[in-house]
Amino acid sequence: MALWGGRFASGPNESVTKLSRSVHFDWRLAPYDIRVNIAHVAGLQRAGVLTALQASEITAGLQELAREIASGEFFYNDSDEDVHSAIERGLVAKLGELGGAFRAGRSRNDLIVTDFKLYLIDHLLEVAHETIDLATAIDLVAQKYIDVVAPGFTHLQHAQPILFSHELTKHSHALLRDVDRMKDWLSRNSVSPLGSGALAGSGLVPNPEIIAADLAFQGVTRNSIDAVSDRDFVAEALFIFAMLGVHLSRIGEEFTLWNTQEFGWVTLDDAFSTGSSIMPQKKNPDIAELARGKAGRFIGNLTSLMVALKGLPFAYNRDLQEDKEPTFDSIEELLILLPALRGMIETATFHGSKISEGVLSGHALATEIADFLVREQAPFAQAHEISGRAVALAESKGIEVHELSDAELLLIDSRLNGSLRGALSAGAAIESRGSINGTSTKSVIAQLGQLEAKIRGYSAWIASERKRFSGMMGA
Ligand code: ARG
Repeated sequence: MALWGGRFASGPNESVTKLSRSVHFDWRLAPYDIRVNIAHVAGLQRAGVLTALQASEITAGLQELAREIASGEFFYNDSDEDVHSAIERGLVAKLGELGGAFRAGRSRNDLIVTDFKLYLIDHLLEVAHETIDLATAIDLVAQKYIDVVAPGFTHLQHAQPILFSHELTKHSHALLRDVDRMKDWLSRNSVSPLGSGALAGSGLVPNPEIIAADLAFQGVTRNSIDAVSDRDFVAEALFIFAMLGVHLSRIGEEFTLWNTQEFGWVTLDDAFSTGSSIMPQKKNPDIAELARGKAGRFIGNLTSLMVALKGLPFAYNRDLQEDKEPTFDSIEELLILLPALRGMIETATFHGSKISEGVLSGHALATEIADFLVREQAPFAQAHEISGRAVALAESKGIEVHELSDAELLLIDSRLNGSLRGALSAGAAIESRGSINGTSTKSVIAQLGQLEAKIRGYSAWIASERKRFSGMMGA
């Protein structure tokens, strides 16, 4: 059903209908469109545009339509241009002419952006929830393997010994930053654009603040021209999703590497691996690889919106319809990827002895020698030089630096006496780093406790926001 046509001599060409049509993707907004319309109808009644009887008939019709949409009984058809026209068709079928009365005082321009914001709030909270679940799964593994030491890498070369749990929980910190961005997003974007009309505001609905409160928004946008053309909230969300995707890609890369025969740190559960169509023996880490690969898509979705917005005139332009598909895509892919990755991690078996195996290779204790000398009052540049000489000697003998004898060490520098020996183990190196950000067991246990507290805080935030929005009018 078309929502316009009075001034046209002919209907649109078939190619135009095809190009213009959005109902096949914006149908996802149907439940939000109904909520917004119900709040708007209440506004029309308050303003005296609709009588109490008319308003209650339209509201009941919209509620019935919402139930029919949820059950699949009502669906869009070939004649519908977008979600708004499909819903109006459904209402007119129920109420006749009255079904066309509810769009007074609003435009699709302010309606679409309000629908989309509510959709994003709902789904952002879902993505936040799944992200927290993934971080929780990682932290549980970290707790379980708290006594496993691992080589820490820089440049993918052995650098210094660390706790494997320290290695794992770095991901939880990154993921919780993403959740924090979502929280920040909501605190900034919880403002309703409804009442902005086509661009100039609505002469028929004078109190958009009441409608905003009915929809559980925390305020109203203050410039109607900005409100109908602003898609910052979409771009911000797509950035958050892209950043999250990048974090997931780094988890994916790590598990792909750890799962190689060469590393052998982790075995993935059969249910979270895939096979090869030609090589019967193969068991591949496809979930980890897809986590790595999808990041490109999330970045592409952000980029496509930014390009659509660049140089766009105010207020509403049809280009803005291009904001939906990238957003639906990022959200829907993340809601598939996040649980899959969580399942992969929850069911994986980590091989502690394999992880610890090479912890001291690559002269990983050379920094301990330099730090020991600094504690003996040597300037660090000198300490670094002396330790470097020890590494060179070890290398010439084909051994690791900590395998040099006491006599050999003393010969390099008289301060490298027997008391150095106590510092030359992975355990000593790890436990000496006891600062709040360090890798000592005490530090990592404290960090795990902080992560747990943060997760509790974010979970409470999600629950309270969900409650707020599910209580909104028409929900
Ligand atoms: N399908 C449109 C969109 O997604 C809805 C708004 C249409 N407004 C208009 N003036 N044609 O942006």
